[in-house]
Amino acid sequence: MPSAVYVVSIDPQASTVWWANRITDLPFDFSQEHETPQNLAVLKDTGARVHVIANQKGGVGKTTTTLNLAAVVAEVLKNQKRLHHIFIDTPGSLQDENLLLEALKYAHDVIVPMPPEGLAFDPTARTIQKVIEPTGLPFQVVINNWDPRDGVADLEDTQAYVDAQGWPRTRTVIRRYKVHTRASVEGRVVTQYPKNRVAMEAREDFFRLALELGYGGAA
Ligand SMILES: Nc1ncnc2c1ncn2[C@@H]1O[C@H](COP(=O)(O)OP(=O)(O)OP(=O)(O)O)[C@@H](O)[C@H]1O
Ligand SMILES: [Mg+2]
Repeated sequence: MPSAVYVVSIDPQASTVWWANRITDLPFDFSQEHETPQNLAVLKDTGARVHVIANQKGGVGKTTTTLNLAAVVAEVLKNQKRLHHIFIDTPGSLQDENLLLEALKYAHDVIVPMPPEGLAFDPTARTIQKVIEPTGLPFQVVINNWDPRDGVADLEDTQAYVDAQGWPRTRTVIRRYKVHTRASVEGRVVTQYPKNRVAMEAREDFFRLALELGYGGAA
């Protein structure tokens, strides 16, 4: 049976493929297309919603968000018989802007992961203002990698910054959990985490995000 979810990476660094290759029993279809971005054109005719995960700042959680959001949506839609959602993971560098622009041609919306730290503000603003806003596509900032043990000051500063820019952001914040960091090394996505309390909390963020974005229902 075809999966309801398809993940495409166009990051030449290919950490997604490295991760995906380590996952036994991947809960979605996956392909790496940075050498042939023109292949993305076929995505338009699938009838699925195409979501691009973008931020030209490296290491903000694009791949983590892509694979885990795809995994929870695949779990929710596991009995669907056709493709509903496509997630495209993109490069975290300015050099590969042409690849990001290519992906945006086929997108229905854009998700912009951003950590709650001042260093990320300017690079995120550049991506949104120079690359995403000119396309006119709807986008949402998702604050990722917030450690509740650090207190709420950085989180609130980041939320205030995003709001002051007039950028839409999700209410859901993806918290920082060791289990996410470890998962990329161990080749696991959230739906495959062990069933302990911390892992359940870590999963919950991605389920809440999928629900808030409206990706859980049949498109
Ligand atoms: N919510 C989180 N909790 C814990 N670790 C996280 C979280 N989000 C991201 N990380 C870790 O931070 C690192 C960078 O994340 P990731 O690879 O997803 O970022 P990226 O934006 O895809 O990076 P690049 O621009 O290099 O592609 C990884 O080691 C990942 O495991
Ligand atoms: Mg990545």
